Amino acid sequence: MTIPDPTMTNLDPNWWRQAVVYQIYPRSFADSNGDGIGDIPGITSRVDYLKNLGINAVWLSPFYPSALADGGYDVDDYRDVDPKLGTLEDFDEMVSALHAVGIKVVVDIVPNHTSNRHVWFQAALKAAPGSPERARYVFRDGLGPNGDLPPADWESFFGGPAWRRVPDTAPGGHPKGGQWYLHMFAPEQPDLNWDNPEVREDFLKTLRFWSDRGVDGFRVDVASMLTKDLSANPLPSWAEIQDGTLWAPGRHPLWDRDEVFDVYHGWRQVFNEYDPPRTAVAEAFVPPDRTHKYATQEGLGQIFNFDLLQANYNAAAFRKIITSHLKFAAQTKSSNTWVLSNHDQVRHVSRYGLPNNPPGAREGHMGRQWDLHGGKNMSINAEQGLRRGRAAIMLLLALPGSTYLYQGEELGLPQVTGIPDHARQDPTFFTNPGVDVGRDGCRVPLPWQADAPAFGFGTSRGPRGVAKASSGGETTSHLPQPEYWGDFAVDVELADPDSTLRFYQKAIKLRQQLEAPEETLTWLDPDVELPGISAAAANDVLLFSRPPVADGSTWVCVSNFGTDPVPMPKGEVLLASGPLPNPGELPGETTAWLRR
Ligand code: NOJ
Repeated sequence: MTIPDPTMTNLDPNWWRQAVVYQIYPRSFADSNGDGIGDIPGITSRVDYLKNLGINAVWLSPFYPSALADGGYDVDDYRDVDPKLGTLEDFDEMVSALHAVGIKVVVDIVPNHTSNRHVWFQAALKAAPGSPERARYVFRDGLGPNGDLPPADWESFFGGPAWRRVPDTAPGGHPKGGQWYLHMFAPEQPDLNWDNPEVREDFLKTLRFWSDRGVDGFRVDVASMLTKDLSANPLPSWAEIQDGTLWAPGRHPLWDRDEVFDVYHGWRQVFNEYDPPRTAVAEAFVPPDRTHKYATQEGLGQIFNFDLLQANYNAAAFRKIITSHLKFAAQTKSSNTWVLSNHDQVRHVSRYGLPNNPPGAREGHMGRQWDLHGGKNMSINAEQGLRRGRAAIMLLLALPGSTYLYQGEELGLPQVTGIPDHARQDPTFFTNPGVDVGRDGCRVPLPWQADAPAFGFGTSRGPRGVAKASSGGETTSHLPQPEYWGDFAVDVELADPDSTLRFYQKAIKLRQQLEAPEETLTWLDPDVELPGISAAAANDVLLFSRPPVADGSTWVCVSNFGTDPVPMPKGEVLLASGPLPNPGELPGETTAWLRR
């Protein structure tokens, strides 16, 4: 079997359908200048690493100029690179270097809100109520005799009120204080007004700007919230906003409105100006029967499916989600997206180290969240977490569709608990004191070298990037790396044939050889395929095959979610997520791929 030359597939318009996409959180990936912040040249310096991982594309979280009030999702300028992270020339070099090894580049677009430092918002602050400058955002007069009360009692997703008052010193401004603007996230992230044609036009310009620079696709932040209806007077209360029964599908005032698809039809026209057409994937938390609307081929084309990420490690739960999402994708001729971790979630090896339905689990804006509370309240079984994590990702990689990996998961990195308060950056930590520790624990800079300053994250001139919880010591990584980080360093894992990194490399490369273009699978019956298995154990097994490839061989994936071994199905075992001590047996919490 030969692996196709990846550069030969550069013009394939369907490259995204079954791609392995690796999410880079740029400021935490690799730091080329030792200032403690990962940067674009840092990514370029690691192209060989990415190539050896075997991925097809990278998705870069925002790298645009930003005060980092929300890790870069507060964008000052959509058509530039943050000077802390490099220059546009650095970006072009990175794209060329990635393309040269056949890796596509997807960038993050943040259309729901700008930052408060964006030139538009600064102009809006200086302009009068009712001015065209204000009309790019959602400004309203306050309630009460002096307008002292917000226009509505809405809450931001990060905690605290969703409306903030401005001083209005501008001519025509209210003498006793100003108007209020809407920010569904941090106050530094004012929501844009997508009824304004100027806003729509400007984003088309941004899409062309990056597409012209060779960007292959876009990840669309908060894709369901752009268009809003704030015409009701008075505005609905927050209780009404949150009551799903009050609003017909597509008619909610703040999210998932049908008008948003007009925006994306316009975007698709821009994508289709390029060869191959640019792609997009929507980040949209919407009910299952609405997801397909974001994934039409006339719209964004693909939507993130976060259901597995939010599921317990359980065979029945996984099977139900897989089956329903295969149907959703077929409805729109899209392909599925499978994901276990990203920059907003507790890393999956740590989640899987908790009992199912842990007491800290709660529903949050970004789905089901697990607050680890600095590790104080719950004990994490790290071995179990890693074992399950490897088994689960191997199952995901065998599914039809694209798989999204989050930087560091290929090292088996756990969630970092116990980041000292003074070092935390995530706004959700500050707006929910004592409730939410925020998302910093999954954003700690990667360890590249066990025995180097900042674990090789940077070419650091300073001391090792470890801030001790008690001392708040000097650090050369923008978030403190824990002492044990070196155990997961790339150089350590490359030297160990059984490491998680070596496992990811093997699995991703093998997938390319085994995967047929048909995006289908056939469930196989464990009772039939695994002779002698008990009924209870069979319930813990997921077993499926993919269509045969050119040489006629078939790829079979078997995953044992239980803790006891089960019989191995027939076929040549190609790879397993953990050790196979007894021939003919698949241990608990292990996945294997076989060829028949
Ligand atoms: C979703 C992003 O993934 C998250 O990191 C960000 O805080 C919010 N959108 C707001 O932009």
